Amino acid sequence: MTVVSPVCVETPAKINLYLGVGPRRADGYHELATVFQALDLTDQLEAEPLESGVQLKLRSGKGVPAGPSNLAVKAARLLKREYEVPQGVRLTLEKRIPVAGGMAGGSADAAAALVACNALWGLGCTQAQLSQLAARLGSDVPFSLCGGTALGAGRGELLTPVLSTGEFTWVVATSFTSLATPDVYATFDKLRGTDFPEPSVPRALLSALRSGDQVAVGAHLHNDLQAAAVSMRPELDLLLEAGRDYGALGAMVSGSGPTCVFLASDHDHAMELSVGLSGTGLCKQARIATGPVPGPRVTRTRT
Ligand code: C5P
Repeated sequence: MTVVSPVCVETPAKINLYLGVGPRRADGYHELATVFQALDLTDQLEAEPLESGVQLKLRSGKGVPAGPSNLAVKAARLLKREYEVPQGVRLTLEKRIPVAGGMAGGSADAAAALVACNALWGLGCTQAQLSQLAARLGSDVPFSLCGGTALGAGRGELLTPVLSTGEFTWVVATSFTSLATPDVYATFDKLRGTDFPEPSVPRALLSALRSGDQVAVGAHLHNDLQAAAVSMRPELDLLLEAGRDYGALGAMVSGSGPTCVFLASDHDHAMELSVGLSGTGLCKQARIATGPVPGPRVTRTRT
């Protein structure tokens, strides 16, 4: 009998350096023009062999569903069904990415499940094959699978890698509350109306990323969903303002929020920012993270 080893995968959170949102499409999604970046703020997912079925155990992650609605469970089930895999998997998830915080934590776990189960079941699927399944699981899952820095079009699933120089140091301020992505998009629709142009990513941001010009990147950070998130959580404006007062090169709501991210000039500045923001009492935690980092990585196969 062959003994199959468990597979452990580290999977990164994402932020949107630019999030341009177009009008709602007929399928209910919004056309996006976005730049994603993966950060070294990670969840850990372990996949162990099981005779049949897909099970999930949560090591941490208050508010995360452990049943069939969990995106990691959906990902494992989809892969199992598509490739007619007879055996099962027991997933164990350690959450460190904020839950419902606008950092694609659920998508990161789905991407991790695809990578872990592909390895565990010895399927040999290519990145392109996994990416097709990823797009069926959610708009952010293809980027979560690819990592790095990338342009996103369509509903966010059509990716082009972006050349980026150097490392960016971020302070990620998590919130005491969460926001549901569909609610933030619905508020965006109400605030914006229907008649506005298709979004596009400014060339100046792409050129700043290419040359590693941190100040210019900071100046071009933008999120069309920010006004909607702030209207739902007005205290976020005070937090963003505090970050700017502490000299952040850029400050914005991450994705659909309520997590906020601040670009620091270096690690020492990030420490100052993090202590300053924590002291305001406006955020739950202010963690330092760097990007870009690669997508999900197999870190361990236990024997
Ligand atoms: O694709 P995903 O399931 O992650 O999307 C969650 C929700 O976010 C969608 O149901 C939709 O309300 C909103 N959304 C959107 N436009 C996008 C991505 C997400 O309206 N491009």
